[in-house]
Amino acid sequence: MSRKNLLLIFMFLLHEYVLCETTNNNHTLSFEIRRQKTPAEQFLKHGHHFGNKFKELIEGMSRDNDSVALYRYLDDEFYGTIVIGHPGQTLNVAFDTTWSYSWVMSSKCSNIKTIGCYFHNKYDHTKSSEYKKDGRPFLMDLGNYNLTGFFSYDNISIAHSNVTAQSFIEMVDVPYEFIINKADGVMGLGLQTDDGYTPFFYTLLNQKKIKNPIYSIYLNRDRQSNRGGNINLGFVDDKHIHKEKINGKIVYDNFTYLQVENFAYWQFQMDQIVINFDKNTNTKVCQKGCKAIVDTSSSSIVGPQEDVDQIHDAMNAKEFFLHRYTVDCDTINKLPKIDFVLGGKNFTLAGPDYTIQMSYHSITLCLSAFIPANTVQEQNRWMLGGAFLAQFYTVYNVQEKTIGFVRSH
Ligand SMILES: *[C@@H]1O[C@H](CO)[C@@H](O)[C@H](O)[C@H]1NC(C)=O
Ligand SMILES: *[C@@H]1O[C@H](CO)[C@@H](O)[C@H](O)[C@H]1NC(C)=O
Ligand SMILES: *[C@@H]1O[C@H](CO)[C@@H](O)[C@H](O)[C@H]1NC(C)=O
Ligand SMILES: *[C@@H]1O[C@H](CO)[C@@H](O)[C@H](O)[C@H]1NC(C)=O
Ligand SMILES: *[C@@H]1O[C@H](CO)[C@@H](O)[C@H](O)[C@H]1NC(C)=O
Ligand SMILES: *[C@@H]1O[C@H](CO)[C@@H](O)[C@H](O)[C@H]1NC(C)=O
Ligand SMILES: *[C@@H]1O[C@H](CO)[C@@H](O)[C@H](O)[C@H]1NC(C)=O
Repeated sequence: MSRKNLLLIFMFLLHEYVLCETTNNNHTLSFEIRRQKTPAEQFLKHGHHFGNKFKELIEGMSRDNDSVALYRYLDDEFYGTIVIGHPGQTLNVAFDTTWSYSWVMSSKCSNIKTIGCYFHNKYDHTKSSEYKKDGRPFLMDLGNYNLTGFFSYDNISIAHSNVTAQSFIEMVDVPYEFIINKADGVMGLGLQTDDGYTPFFYTLLNQKKIKNPIYSIYLNRDRQSNRGGNINLGFVDDKHIHKEKINGKIVYDNFTYLQVENFAYWQFQMDQIVINFDKNTNTKVCQKGCKAIVDTSSSSIVGPQEDVDQIHDAMNAKEFFLHRYTVDCDTINKLPKIDFVLGGKNFTLAGPDYTIQMSYHSITLCLSAFIPANTVQEQNRWMLGGAFLAQFYTVYNVQEKTIGFVRSH
């Protein structure tokens, strides 16, 4: 099958969702994010129709060398909508807490060689009266691929608020695998570093569109819903916090705050991970503590190979494809509870939380959300993606450089 035919097939695979209810009150912003199918789900759904070609494409995404960033976006489920320029051009973006830059596909990414931009909304700066040239080149070497572009400025609006002269990258070349992702770019929610770049959230603060230097992320744990969750800029929404009625009084769980150690990634220290076989038997990984980041741009939990191997042993999981493991679906309710210990508190996931059940016709698969790292960068830290964040509501304070976790509702 030629690449062109393959592209036609993908036209059918991609079905669009549209935005997104928004609210704006009192210098805060909230917007809904949407859920797309992950490559694994697409594989299951369409893999047997398209056989080896699809498999090849999926395998092309294997995380060789340093293509971690790319892989994460392709494993992503969550995206939202922004409007750039005047008159406004609408694009879908993934939200990434581990990246400070924002980028979108450029209208200049339309060459036959840049297949990754096909079927995507692209930003055309010649059609925006607010566009301001920067022009500095951007290149990120991902090993087998490059992300290539240049910096530009324009107004960006999200929900009902907008900022002017936001710096972002117009990508003119992206890896071809991007054709299976709904996102036309990435909104970086990382912290500001000393490289002179002002991330979008800081521009919102500087231009007084929001008051409080915090944002919070809620991910919907209902995988059947295409409502992916909410990102709240400038506030914490109590309705996403777990609460209990005690002696007739409603008591909310409290956030556990951790100090961020590596600003670029919102990286923090995790105390340990405990795999509980039963009340009296457990195994620990990351025993002496380890580095961790939260990762909104992936649905998985990635950890050092030997640690994840131990978890998979405890789950009795078998390799399925591409570092993805499956378990017997009948066992998911009996799988060990896994405590991620943060700031001395347990953040516990049960079997159904860290497995993803997928059905199509007669095929049902229960995929483990854990993925063993296979790059040097990944070996050294845990990346707590969607499977973790669907259970815990997180709040990010860019001034105090803290990140807070609480059981979500
Ligand atoms: C708006 O913000 C101010 C100051 O943070 C607060 O006192 C007030 O109650 C808020 N109003 C609403 C409607 O949230
Ligand atoms: C990984 O990178 C090394 C050095 O750049 C290269 O020799 C090797 O072929 C790469 N591996 C893959 C699978 O691309
Ligand atoms: C862009 O910013 C300018 C300058 O603040 C403003 O006048 C204009 O309304 C903005 N346009 C849009 C589409 O947001
Ligand atoms: C990525 O860019 C670097 C630097 O320009 C170049 O040497 C390399 O060949 C490029 N890689 C690919 C896969 O195009
Ligand atoms: C941008 O914000 C200005 C005021 O801050 C408002 O007048 C304008 O309508 C907004 N534009 C968009 C596209 O939301
Ligand atoms: C949260 O903290 C408040 C104030 O310290 C306390 O009253 C409440 O019981 C705590 N909630 C829980 C679930 O521990
Ligand atoms: C965390 O859970 C384990 C059992 O899984 C328990 O032994 C331990 O006391 C808990 N720690 C806290 C701080 O609640």
